[in-house]
Amino acid sequence: MIKEELIQLNEKFENEIKGAQDAKQLNEIKVKIFGKMGALTILSKSMRDVSAEERPTIGALINHVRNNLEEKISQKEDAFKQEELMKKLDNEKVDITEPSKGFEVGALHPISRVIDKLTDICVEMGFSVVEGPEVETDYYNFEAMNIPKNHPSRDMQDTFFITENTLLRSQTSAVQAREMEKRKPPFKIVCPGKTYRNESDSTHSPIFHQLEGLVVDEKISMADLKAMLTTLMKRLYGDDTTIRFRPSFFPFTEPSIEVDVSCPNCHGKGCSTCKGTGMLELLGAGIVNPKVLEMSGIDSKKYSGFAFGFGLDRVAMILNGITNIRNFYKNDVRFLKQMR
Ligand code: DAH
Repeated sequence: MIKEELIQLNEKFENEIKGAQDAKQLNEIKVKIFGKMGALTILSKSMRDVSAEERPTIGALINHVRNNLEEKISQKEDAFKQEELMKKLDNEKVDITEPSKGFEVGALHPISRVIDKLTDICVEMGFSVVEGPEVETDYYNFEAMNIPKNHPSRDMQDTFFITENTLLRSQTSAVQAREMEKRKPPFKIVCPGKTYRNESDSTHSPIFHQLEGLVVDEKISMADLKAMLTTLMKRLYGDDTTIRFRPSFFPFTEPSIEVDVSCPNCHGKGCSTCKGTGMLELLGAGIVNPKVLEMSGIDSKKYSGFAFGFGLDRVAMILNGITNIRNFYKNDVRFLKQMR
């Protein structure tokens, strides 16, 4: 009796499981079989009434039916899961023919590129790269550079003062004294950085960049300066570059010179970049004034030095064919993209 019932139960639920439409229906069937009041649970309880000889066979049959139905349910569950996954994948379909959105590639600012290039060349020549504060004292920016308070040469640099004795540095020369106080000769340093002056037109911006160089050693002369600057300019603008010294004046150098470079655009023939002269005024330089050495604690009888300083914005403008300096500071992405 119970044997037939078991066989029928097995067949009935096999069919029900097969016909289940979704996971919820399948779960209901599961409860109908294995739940507290489930068909198989109730049948199992009637084992009590089975005779001792029949018990092993019936027991085995019950187990067989249980395992079979459990397996069918689990197979069906897997099928539903797979179906669900396929549905999900179908909805998430990626259109591989769609044009890609692309991603933005960043780039170094043209001024940063010039700083990197120049400092790289200087490092190869044995210079150390240093930095100094942009908010500077009157002492380092002017006095230690042999420009006393109220001296007329201050007029050349229309300076932003913060208090009577603090200012936005108007020249990277301010790092010269700082480094001379710290170091013992011989040393060779370059300092790139931001500088500030109250001026604004197509070639002047209130914020701009300079690179300062300083070498202090025994027997440093104009010849060393010339050799160093010639190498630097050839490396920057190409091997056919020539340089020219003109006498000039700076309070911190004696003698002082201005250095012109053959125009990298027309190679000396004359063009709009060099206003037809074939040369570009590029930097100020000279032999460090012994007074400047002494003020910073360096024995000017034993040591001498050369120094140079130049505007990096101008270098970047020439290298990139830019006519208005303000483009560097507007952060207009269209401009910066062209500079990549
Ligand atoms: N500091 C000067 C300026 O801003 C440039 C300069 C000239 C720097 C001569 C020097 C130098 O170190 O020797 O105009």
